[in-house]
Amino acid sequence: MKAVLVTGAAGFIGSNFVRLLRRERLQTHVLALDALTYAGNLENLRDCIDGTHCPFIRGDVCDADALARYFQVRHGRMPLTMDA
Ligand SMILES: NC(=O)c1ccc[n+]([C@@H]2O[C@H](COP(=O)([O-])OP(=O)(O)OC[C@H]3O[C@@H](n4cnc5c(N)ncnc54)[C@H](O)[C@@H]3O)[C@@H](O)[C@H]2O)c1
Repeated sequence: MKAVLVTGAAGFIGSNFVRLLRRERLQTHVLALDALTYAGNLENLRDCIDGTHCPFIRGDVCDADALARYFQVRHGRMPLTMDA
């Protein structure tokens, strides 16, 4: 199964993109990553997040080591979709 990483997922553009992916690509894992800065709000993702197909990751997109570790453990590869 493909996995798409959406950065800034709790922001305006990211949360709407996550919602679009969830609606249109049900066979795709959507990894919703956000640092939850002043601009991020998990409420934006309330109807999207689940532990199976759309986990939320609180993290910094600049932390390449953490992202690489996460993908090795969870998915074994690292496809990226960037926004925000
Ligand atoms: N109702 C509306 O029409 C509406 C509402 C909000 C924003 N907007 C517009 O949308 C645009 C902004 O949207 P956006 O989604 O680009 O910005 P945003 O500020 O809404 O979201 C950015 C997200 O990125 C996260 N983030 C920041 N640094 C990060 C990092 N290092 N690692 C991981 N996550 C990080 C923040 O926590 C936040 O959730 C603007 O043009 C704004 O005017 C429109």
